[in-house]
Amino acid sequence: MLNIKIERVATPKIKPDYSKLGFGKFFTDHMFLMNYSTEKGWHDARIVPYGPIMLDPSAMVFHYAQELFEGLKAYRTAAGNIQLFRPDKNIDRMNATCDRLCVPQIPAEDVLQAIKAVVEVDKDWVPYDEGTSLYIRPFIIATDPMLGVHPSHTYIFAIILSPVGSYYAAGINPVKIYVEREYVRCVKGGTGRAKAGGNYAASLIGQKRAEDMGCAQVLWLDGVERKYIDEVGAMNVFFVINGTVITPELTDGNILPGVTRMSCIELLKKWGVPVEERKLSIDEVIEAQKNGTLNEAFGTGTAAVISPIGELYDGDTKMVINNNEIGSIAKKLYDAITGIQWGKDADIMGWIEKID
Ligand code: COI
Repeated sequence: MLNIKIERVATPKIKPDYSKLGFGKFFTDHMFLMNYSTEKGWHDARIVPYGPIMLDPSAMVFHYAQELFEGLKAYRTAAGNIQLFRPDKNIDRMNATCDRLCVPQIPAEDVLQAIKAVVEVDKDWVPYDEGTSLYIRPFIIATDPMLGVHPSHTYIFAIILSPVGSYYAAGINPVKIYVEREYVRCVKGGTGRAKAGGNYAASLIGQKRAEDMGCAQVLWLDGVERKYIDEVGAMNVFFVINGTVITPELTDGNILPGVTRMSCIELLKKWGVPVEERKLSIDEVIEAQKNGTLNEAFGTGTAAVISPIGELYDGDTKMVINNNEIGSIAKKLYDAITGIQWGKDADIMGWIEKID
């Protein structure tokens, strides 16, 4: 159990217009901080006014990217209560990423306590409008002032909060996705399954190409054969072929084990919809599109929720999926997951952690 000191802001900020939030542009009044040193372990848990963090220019995070993060959301129910969606899964994944990046783990119950405490302090920031939520961004940075390439001995764990609307400007409307054939996001044995900031830095070149082509995101192929589908920039990806829902398997360690991905698979199994976690080649998708068996495609993520894919751009070829419309499975999953998240539907899966 952490002993969290709280220093509140003297004057709260003016809140943004909740109908025009977009994603990750506004931040609340407070943030959670905790330090790590070899001698003291994780210590000095505190909630302080949101603001710059002072670091030595030689802090290792600036040079060797020893950094990791998580993303989850707090939802406001119609009754005005605030709740989290499967925070235990994010916390477990955060500690798995810690192991991969040689960062000391934080006890899961302490992370949950910290998340709940900072959301509680900034609870007025959890928006009420339809489709909005408070995005929670925990992250850890290496702070040793040191240019040798070694794991740091000191770290800061921080949690910042951002009221958000939909991740894509298109909202729940289908997005365009660009298939990246030259660059790769990760390789077997790399950090693909970890939520490391460095993975996203490596992905930016593909993201830029996607944006230059008017696409929202990149579809990454595996780093060895450049053939199998890994994931989309900020989402896991699902294709429905001939009524079977297929998503790339996690076994090679290339793919982020998404909490929304996991929740979709669990719901589909519960509904008796055939779902397969397996290798899926881009050629199989192209073939299915040609022979009319590609029913729909969608991405999943905490930020993006369920995002239908309307068009795939692969070189000079443009594939239109499901007439550029949201498919029935994507819609059913979206309704079920958001219904539970915003407390419109009963929490039949036991996924909700209430804050107040
Ligand atoms: C999330 O969905 O929470 C993510 O972390 C994706 C992010 C890179 C925007």
